Amino acid sequence: STTPVKVAVTGAAGQIGYSLLFRIASGALLGPDTPVELRLLEITPALKALEGVVMELDDCAFPTLAKVEIGDDPNTIFDGANVALLVGARPRTKGMERGDLLEANGAIFTGQGKALNDHAADDIRVTVTGNPANTNALIAKSNAPDIPAERFSALTRLDHNRALAQLAKKTGTSVNDLKKLTIWGNHSATQYPDIFHAEVAGKNAAEVVNDQTWLENDFIPTVQKRGAAIIEARGASSAASAAAATIDHTRDWLRGSADGDWLSMAVVSDGSYGVPEGLISSFPVITKDGNWEIVQGLEINDFSRGRIDASAAELAEERDAVQQLGLIG
Ligand code: NAI
Repeated sequence: STTPVKVAVTGAAGQIGYSLLFRIASGALLGPDTPVELRLLEITPALKALEGVVMELDDCAFPTLAKVEIGDDPNTIFDGANVALLVGARPRTKGMERGDLLEANGAIFTGQGKALNDHAADDIRVTVTGNPANTNALIAKSNAPDIPAERFSALTRLDHNRALAQLAKKTGTSVNDLKKLTIWGNHSATQYPDIFHAEVAGKNAAEVVNDQTWLENDFIPTVQKRGAAIIEARGASSAASAAAATIDHTRDWLRGSADGDWLSMAVVSDGSYGVPEGLISSFPVITKDGNWEIVQGLEINDFSRGRIDASAAELAEERDAVQQLGLIG
């Protein structure tokens, strides 16, 4: 029998965790033939609730679930991890300033970065879902000098999937007809969903849509503000869709993107498309066997240019703020 792949998940007793763990355990991440060991990290007061979730995992009798470990020490939980899904983060509470939020999350992601550096397996791949995801990934990466920088990523796949759903609706097609959509920049309200290179059933999406007003006043703000709209409607933030996107992102990273298509993934910038080197920014990427590559040579029109630059500027500001806090080198 094959050795189980060790998948660490942080914030495992949270909302996203409650959707994510069952899908990983049932084979949605690694496939139906790969046994998985879940290694679940929580803060001490949430361990009891996590024990309840583990009881439910037991009760599913998933054939692919080999083992579950839980704990509150990242050094133990990340030991031997092949994949780490960093979902747990400190949410913004009333009256909390942006600086406080960055500092609270900084403490979490410096510690987790160091623990990954010291204990994870050599083939570790890290996906950061917890917000502010891009900057949390930057902090973790900066505190894990022995792990190659390209092993750290942040989630913009939910934004990508949201954009696909909106574009399918507008064009009266199915998401299966859509290709080459891109989310650029930060997982925040400055993110830029770009349809200028996208295809609808093989035709250029911007031309098929042919509606600049919809693009500017409907599509882009709808995708950017979808998270807030879900909170408004559901009374809680998106969780099942965030879990699904975390699986999509990590699965496609490990197992490869589809031929003739690309994905949106926030990865360390090499300066492509004018995004300052070193920022963790969303790009169009192609993946294969656990590696990614930024799609090169796309022509960027003026409309897109301004939006890509604005989101990159926000990421640079966040980087400067955490640098000033001493959270990154
Ligand atoms: P939640 O509050 O239900 O769960 C978060 C869990 O993380 C809690 O159980 C908490 O105890 C745990 N946690 C906090 N600090 C921790 C630490 N140091 N180590 C381990 N666990 C820790 O939140 P939910 O809804 O599950 O969301 C998790 C994160 O994902 C949030 O930051 C949220 O903003 C973010 N998110 C990101 C999305 C994206 O597209 N990138 C989409 C939706 C949510």
